[in-house]
Amino acid sequence: MLEARDAVKKLHTYRPPLANRTGLRLDFNESTIGCSPRVLAGLQSLDADSLARYPEREPVEKMVASFLGLDPAQVLLTNGVDEAIHLLCSTYLDPGDEALIVVPTFAMYSIFALAEGAHVIEVRAGDNFTFPTEQLLAQISPRTRLIAVANPNNPTGAVVAGQVLLQIAQAAPQAAVLVDEAYFEFYGETLIDRTRQIPNLFVARTFSKAYGLAGLRIGILAGDARQIEMVRRVASPYNVNVAALAVLAAAIHDQDYVNRYVAEVRRNRERLQLELGSLALRYWPSHANFVLVHIGLAHAEFVQELRARGVLVRDRHSDPGCEGCVRLTVGTDEHTQTLILAVRDVVTQIGLRGKFQTRLSPGARP
Ligand SMILES: Cc1ncc(COP(=O)(O)O)c(C=O)c1O
Repeated sequence: MLEARDAVKKLHTYRPPLANRTGLRLDFNESTIGCSPRVLAGLQSLDADSLARYPEREPVEKMVASFLGLDPAQVLLTNGVDEAIHLLCSTYLDPGDEALIVVPTFAMYSIFALAEGAHVIEVRAGDNFTFPTEQLLAQISPRTRLIAVANPNNPTGAVVAGQVLLQIAQAAPQAAVLVDEAYFEFYGETLIDRTRQIPNLFVARTFSKAYGLAGLRIGILAGDARQIEMVRRVASPYNVNVAALAVLAAAIHDQDYVNRYVAEVRRNRERLQLELGSLALRYWPSHANFVLVHIGLAHAEFVQELRARGVLVRDRHSDPGCEGCVRLTVGTDEHTQTLILAVRDVVTQIGLRGKFQTRLSPGARP
C-alpha cells in the first residue's frame, strides 16, 4: 500500500474554520473593506487570452523590488506568505534539522518544518507574551537551520525590537531567519532593507491583510540575492497566478487607499482596546489589525454568542499560553462599532448569568 512519509503521517490536518462565514468577518484578520477599486477594475479587464497564458512573474517582481527599494534578485513573489514559509523549509531543512519558533504563533511554521522531517523546538513567550530573547538564543545549536518569527506576532499582536532579531540572525549564521511581516502596515517597522547586508535574513510580506487580497494569494519573500536564488530553484515558475500578477501594480500604486484603511484600523485598535479595558476584560496591546482578549471559561460561548449577533471572531483557546482567549480582528469605524456593541451585549448577558469567569490563566506565564 502506498504510504506517505512518516513526517507527513505524524502531521495533523490543519483546517481553519472557513465554513459558514456569513456576517461581519472578524475571524481571519482580513481587510474588512476589501481591495482598492483599481484592483477590481484590473481584474475585470482580464480576458480569455490573458487567462490562457502561463503567468510571467519576473516583470512584476521588478516592479515590487523597485517599490521596496531592493534589487530584483532579492525578491521572490510567492503564493502568499504560506508558500514563502514552505519554500524556506524545503530549501533549508533536512530531516533531523532543528527549526525554532516562539509560541504562541502562526501555525504554518511548524507544519511546514515538520513536513520536512525537522524537529520543531518551541520556545514559550514570557509573561504577557514578551519575546523570550535569552531562551531563544540558548536554543540555537549547529543543527538550527530555520528560525521563524512573526513581527507583529499572530495571535498576540506583540512585537519584538528589530535589534533583537538582528542579534538572533547574527547568532545563527547557519540558519535561515525569517521575519514574517504579514502585519507590517499596521505596525510600521521593518527589517526589509537589512536583507541587503545580512545573508541569512529573510523578510516576508503579504497582500492578504492591509491590501485586502487574501483570496488572490500573493506575498513577497525578500532576502540576500544568493539565498533567494536558492529558494527560487524550489519554487514553481508559475506559483503566482495571472490575476494576482495582473493587478499587483494597481494595488501597490493605490497607496492612498491602503494608508487610509490602515489609519482607520489603527484608530479603531485603540478604541477597541479602551472598550475592552472598560469592560474589565484583559487584553494585550496589539500592533496588528486584531486584538487578543481574555474571556476565560466562557470563551467558546462568547464566540458563539457573537456569531449569533452576526459577528465572527476566532477562539484561540487552544494556542499555547492563550487559554480562554479570543482574537478580534479590527476593521473600519462602522465594523468596530458593530463589534463593540455586540461584545458589550454578550459580556452583559454571559456575565449576568454568572458564567463570565476569568479562572483560566492566559498570557503564557502570567
Ligand atoms: C503571521 C502570519 N503570517 C502569514 C500569514 C498568511 O499570509 P498569506 O495569506 O500571505 O499566506 C498569516 C495569516 O493569518 C499570518 O498571521
